[in-house]
Amino acid sequence: MTRQTPSLNDQYHKTRTVAPPVGPLGVLTPGLGAVASTFIAGVIAAREGLFPPVGSISQMAHIRLGDKSEGRNPLIKDFVPLVSLDDMVFGGWDPLSANVLEAARTCEVLQERDLASISAELENIAAMDAVFDQKWVSRLDGVRVKQIDSKKDQAQALINDIEDFRSSHDCERMVMIWCGSTEAFSEPSEVHSSVKAFEAGLAVNDPNISPSQIYAYAALQSEVPFANGAPNLTVDLPWARELARIRNTPIAGKDFKTGQTLLKTILAPGFKARMLGLSGWYSTNILGNRDGEVLDAPENFKSKEVSKLGVLDTILQPDVYPDLYNDIHHVVRINYYPPRGDNKEGWDNIDIFGWMGYPMQIKVDFLCRDSILAAPIVLDLALFMDLAARAGESGVQEWLSFYFKAPQPKNRPQDRSQSDDSFNVEHDLFIQQTKLKNTLREWMGEKPVTHSEAG
Ligand SMILES: NC(=O)c1ccc[n+]([C@@H]2O[C@H](COP(=O)([O-])OP(=O)(O)OC[C@H]3O[C@@H](n4cnc5c(N)ncnc54)[C@H](O)[C@@H]3O)[C@@H](O)[C@H]2O)c1
Repeated sequence: MTRQTPSLNDQYHKTRTVAPPVGPLGVLTPGLGAVASTFIAGVIAAREGLFPPVGSISQMAHIRLGDKSEGRNPLIKDFVPLVSLDDMVFGGWDPLSANVLEAARTCEVLQERDLASISAELENIAAMDAVFDQKWVSRLDGVRVKQIDSKKDQAQALINDIEDFRSSHDCERMVMIWCGSTEAFSEPSEVHSSVKAFEAGLAVNDPNISPSQIYAYAALQSEVPFANGAPNLTVDLPWARELARIRNTPIAGKDFKTGQTLLKTILAPGFKARMLGLSGWYSTNILGNRDGEVLDAPENFKSKEVSKLGVLDTILQPDVYPDLYNDIHHVVRINYYPPRGDNKEGWDNIDIFGWMGYPMQIKVDFLCRDSILAAPIVLDLALFMDLAARAGESGVQEWLSFYFKAPQPKNRPQDRSQSDDSFNVEHDLFIQQTKLKNTLREWMGEKPVTHSEAG
């Protein structure tokens, strides 16, 4: 008897079971500052039909299915069962902001004319008292802080907050996205090596456990997916990967890919595609918001620097193309300059070379708005992390690398440090886009598209 081999099409029609998005999704953000308030205000404005959610892949992008000739090209939100914007409810913690309206006004990202019609709704989202330690964010003097000394009890208080929010808002499911300040640079230590070591560390107030890690622990214990928008380690640590597995809960990180790094991961793949050499990339920024103030402290900037510097080497592969990319001078600077507020200016001087080694220069001056670029990322991460949980996923969601400056690999070997670029994570925005869309295709039983998404 001859064995029937399944055709390629049969293989791809094994649709994964994705539970439907029944009931409200609670979106909790530790940190209610510029990014979180802009995200929440934008979602409320979008569901009232005031603005389309520009920059959001989940809401605005189409996805091609099958062969081009089939003409199937639905919106992603019509293709995969995502929560509707109407079914999202918001909450968060902050040591400074009292509520989302106050945060939005303080950060001055959005103008009063855009806040006026939604101000009551924003004011109703009150910040919960934060787990905060100035040791990790020296420039901020927190006032709305839980008066609890034990880290173990702080974690329990956050777990209680999550449960209170869940029951008071009738949430079927929740996700947590870290939108808090960048914490001081730290390296993994023994306390991060396993869940057991981490829990022992919580009990004795181990100084290597930062507030963001306590939020992540509370989220994972509550089976709430956790994504990290800042460069701090948080869930890029062995204990978090282990707990995510035990709790069958998705995690992702780290550091939203917004202005300068977004451009870097758009331009660098182009230089490489054209086999042009690169001798230097000097990036500098002026930034005047609270994030800029926090990053003005050297120990906090160091976290950001590590996450920004990793990008070029992995895209350009100097080991494969030594003639083109072996000796790149890559420098990143951020300068706190209050008059600019959230409207960052990022300059890039790019020294490239071509035929017979002749040098050329490219200058980029990006007058961007940081939180305007970050807000749709928070929306997409909230919706896709929830989708992943309903699709039975747990652990690191590498397919969401598209959204991060320093994407977490699915499995980081224990012996590799966070700044070790040789470990292969994907930074090329276009490969990341293909991976994201192919994951959705695969979950819905469609064939992957392996060539460019362009067109
Ligand atoms: N804006 C962007 O484009 C962008 C891009 C990549 C990453 N990020 C990161 O996202 C985070 C938020 O950026 P932002 O511009 O909104 O900054 P922000 O300073 O306006 O907001 C951060 C908020 O976090 C609060 N906070 C600090 N420690 C906290 C704690 N332990 N618990 C709860 N809240 C805490 C602060 O009080 C502040 O209100 C930063 O870490 C930033 O580096 C932002």
